Amino acid sequence: MRVGVLTGGGDCPGLNAVIRAVTKSLINHGQCEVLGIADGFEGLMGEVPRVKPLSWDEVSGILHIGGTILGTSNSANPLRDEATLAQVGRNVQELGLDVVVAIGGDGTMSLAHGLAQVGLQCVGVPKTIDNDIANCERSFGFDTAVATVTESLRRIESTAMSHHRVMIVETMGRHAGWLALESGIAGAADIILLPEIDYDLQAIVDFCKAREERQRYTIICIGEGAKESGQSLTVRERIAHSPDPVRLGGVGHVLRERLQPHLKSEVRTTVLGHVQRGGDPTPFDRVLATQFGHHAAQLVLDGKFGHMVTLQDGRIGSVEIAKVANTQRTVPLDSPLLTMARDIGICFGEV
Ligand code: F6P
Repeated sequence: MRVGVLTGGGDCPGLNAVIRAVTKSLINHGQCEVLGIADGFEGLMGEVPRVKPLSWDEVSGILHIGGTILGTSNSANPLRDEATLAQVGRNVQELGLDVVVAIGGDGTMSLAHGLAQVGLQCVGVPKTIDNDIANCERSFGFDTAVATVTESLRRIESTAMSHHRVMIVETMGRHAGWLALESGIAGAADIILLPEIDYDLQAIVDFCKAREERQRYTIICIGEGAKESGQSLTVRERIAHSPDPVRLGGVGHVLRERLQPHLKSEVRTTVLGHVQRGGDPTPFDRVLATQFGHHAAQLVLDGKFGHMVTLQDGRIGSVEIAKVANTQRTVPLDSPLLTMARDIGICFGEV
């Protein structure tokens, strides 16, 4: 069997661990040849496909390294027009690919689903620091990102205490607040603002003022998709034809401008940005990514094409990609984590 492997969408720590586990499992099986596809689906879109054989040696020594040895793209869209789609179809045929293991987020899973129409069979592996893929209660990369944001919050806290400031820390996470929520709890944020719960400015002002009288500093952890009630999402840029057409970012600055006139303390913002996506995966993410890669190889060998690896109730399994394409796993409003956080005095900016 000839198996392609690609990484699509934004990168995250643990991708190399998946590439390694898929490749080693398939090579060990003895009947498979593995081809690495460069830069996500982009590597299949040109007249000359960009692929290279993946050998045992090629994937050795990469378990702990962040990023992806294959490269990735979050703007490549093989479904953008008929000509591109036809080119992908020809490349798949010429390369003799039986199946492609597509390691990616919701955008990549939607593309993988759409490509079935030109005969490209895929097995999906969910990845994202956002932790927002349906049927996957923990995606690798998330634990590493939570550790990075948590560490940043601790560093921000010491300087916030010294200067008696209100410090806003903006995290990634797009339309799901998992990263802001878990990092905020772990990093002892006083206020956590999520895309799932519109915040009320006055509620935040009141909370900060009360703290000005007591602790004299406040830490606000805000997910990039959060918004004030009645205000629109803070969009940084839009990218035509991309499977991820909207880039967020800057909501922390918007909140600073709205908040400052109401407070005595100085309000400052730190946007953590891509530091959250970089770095070596934590041991937890290395193990999870290896499990996901190994299971993807099993799906390939069992001929379970069109399926994505899942993690539910702590068990690795699979689901049809068609069922998860174009869906998202956001923080449920009845999440026990929200209840717990409220009970220990964390403010979510609610009225
Ligand atoms: O989906 C992962 C993610 O890191 C989001 O949290 C974030 O909004 C987006 O990617 C940023 O993408 P880019 O690298 O294109 O700015």
